[in-house]
Amino acid sequence: MSMKDDVTTIPTDQLVSLLLTIKEEAEHQIDQSDASYEELRLSIFGKESELTKLSQSMRLVPKEDKQRVGIVLNQVKQSLEQLLSKKAKESGLVNEDWMDVTAPGVRPPEGHLHIVTQAIEEITQIFNKLGFTRVRHPEVDWDWYPFESLNMPHSHPASDEWETFYIIYPGFPGKNPRKQKIVLTPHTSNGQVREMEKGILPIRMINIAKCYRRQMDVSHVPMFYQFEGLYIDKNVSIGHLKGVLDYFAKAFFGPDRKTRIRPFHFQFTEPSFEVDISCGICNGKGCRLCKEGWLELGGAGMVHPVVLTNGRVDTTIYNGFAFGWGVERSFMMKSGTQLDDIRPLYGNDVRFLEQF
Ligand code: DAH
Repeated sequence: MSMKDDVTTIPTDQLVSLLLTIKEEAEHQIDQSDASYEELRLSIFGKESELTKLSQSMRLVPKEDKQRVGIVLNQVKQSLEQLLSKKAKESGLVNEDWMDVTAPGVRPPEGHLHIVTQAIEEITQIFNKLGFTRVRHPEVDWDWYPFESLNMPHSHPASDEWETFYIIYPGFPGKNPRKQKIVLTPHTSNGQVREMEKGILPIRMINIAKCYRRQMDVSHVPMFYQFEGLYIDKNVSIGHLKGVLDYFAKAFFGPDRKTRIRPFHFQFTEPSFEVDISCGICNGKGCRLCKEGWLELGGAGMVHPVVLTNGRVDTTIYNGFAFGWGVERSFMMKSGTQLDDIRPLYGNDVRFLEQF
């Protein structure tokens, strides 16, 4: 059959076998012909070649057959290209090792810090300005520090909120009740008593670490970051706490944002609060996202005397406040960041990550 026939009249199956025939003929030609590389190229892939004409007629192939014919066409082209360049190399027709050393180089793609790391650095810097120093406490810890030391007696229902992963440590059977279960810390509050145990007062710490909980949905992942502030000194008041929260909110979220504290309950603070930030979209007026103008950030409160005592801090002289929030959640609420799902932060898709 000649290519002069109109392809619209050829059924798809015949079209495919025509393509395979063209391939076979071209293979034979490449193998046998003495023609130069350019001549061969022109004859197989040139404007007037059967292959090119057939490619141009692809648009006339019925829609449902396009994919099938397209795949065969691409395979035929690729295999002929390979064969031709192999022959050219073998017969010294072209020298592929030639390189233009004066051509400009290709820059390798440049990465940047992960957005959660960027947020951690920014948070650290803001608290540094207030005299808080970043400290590190274990992310795998004795059950005592994230639970019992924080005034949550063993099996207390309050601990249900922090369901995490643990192992029973067989090392000290029954010897030290504080060192039996090992948990992946479900919150950074485990750093509170650990910091007090250092015995250096006053304390102004910011503990940023990974936390683990049994959870997974649009706003939760099993591994995430929290930052925990702890301030222990003489005569610390709720006013100090509010001042620190406001300073942070304006520095991190934008100068127009405000915070408010709402009464709440945590075992390790008394009184306890939940901290809200004015909504960045409606500026506190109330909109679809926030309903009443405020978005919930995290917990805070005045450190409970039992916690201070567990950290061997003299409660007749010292008191303090603490707060703890999620890093990812704060990042998502930052002005101008329109993220409604936490999971892409850990999806490792550079197309998403390189936008920040
Ligand atoms: N650790 C708590 C949580 O993960 C948050 C929290 C509440 C931290 C009150 C605090 C605090 O330091 O005082 O939900």
